[in-house]
Amino acid sequence: MVTTAPQADGAIRTVVVTVPATSANLGPGFDTLGLALSVYDTLTASSFPDDRLEIAVSGSGAAEIPRDASNLVVRAIAHVYADVDRPLPGLRIHADNGVPHGRGLGSSGAAVTAGILIAKGLLAGDVELDDDALLRLATELEGHPDNVAPALFGGLTIAWTAARGPQHKKLLVHRGVAPLVFVPGFTMSTSLARSLQPPHVSREDAVFNVSRSALLIAALTQSPELLLDATDDRLHQGYRGPAMPETLRLVQALRAEGCAAVVSGAGPSVLVLADGPGARQRAVDLADAVTDTPWDAHMLAVDVLGGTVRERAEGST
Ligand code: HSE
Repeated sequence: MVTTAPQADGAIRTVVVTVPATSANLGPGFDTLGLALSVYDTLTASSFPDDRLEIAVSGSGAAEIPRDASNLVVRAIAHVYADVDRPLPGLRIHADNGVPHGRGLGSSGAAVTAGILIAKGLLAGDVELDDDALLRLATELEGHPDNVAPALFGGLTIAWTAARGPQHKKLLVHRGVAPLVFVPGFTMSTSLARSLQPPHVSREDAVFNVSRSALLIAALTQSPELLLDATDDRLHQGYRGPAMPETLRLVQALRAEGCAAVVSGAGPSVLVLADGPGARQRAVDLADAVTDTPWDAHMLAVDVLGGTVRERAEGST
């Protein structure tokens, strides 16, 4: 440990973590592609030389998030400490959540990532965790790497699992890409969404998604004008649509008008990858015209930094 003298409140160390929202899949890149977006959870966590567990939550999901050891942030911290064979310290955590909960914008991936980064910060000087270890630990809890990779590293990420564990490649998005997210008032369960997909798909559909995923990397990094074709999908959105008909209707209505709209993650939010601010405003206007469902439209930027952790020194905020 770098900090040896206890803080005035008895804490051993205090860290501040920020983690961005993420949108996974991006249409064809099921369980593979993800994009970090400029909405954030911010957590302050202190370690203590006892077994306390104090959790306070404000912002999105505050009413439902557990305040005990079942809390996902705490489970992620505990997962890291167990992995590196260190005893879990007492913890005091305050989470201020900007990432909408249960809306397909990576709230669970953000909680897992926050816990992993809190543990990294609290363990710094004793145990050092590299990027591969962070992604492995986060993926072990989340089940698939496509949200936690951009939450950890920012930008556009390609994530895959190799024999040596989950891997990622971060890419910078073309500055002409203007993300827009439509968030509804209702939620969608990721496990329900996953259960609606068949175990096998046709070769034709597999080839369809392989071609669109490859094209999507070119569209997002070099050629935003290709985004409409590049965001088409046959692996998940159609199967999941009946569980979120308003979402599918908005995606189809926007695509029919030339907007590159997709289901964000497992839904129910809709992500539009517009090729410029004008096209993005047009998508907002179109959505107003084609649906009665109230959608909150958020014009966002791509987050290029990913999750951050810093130690909070005594007396600072
Ligand atoms: N790739 C995941 C899915 C993202 O669509 O099920 C949601 O966690």
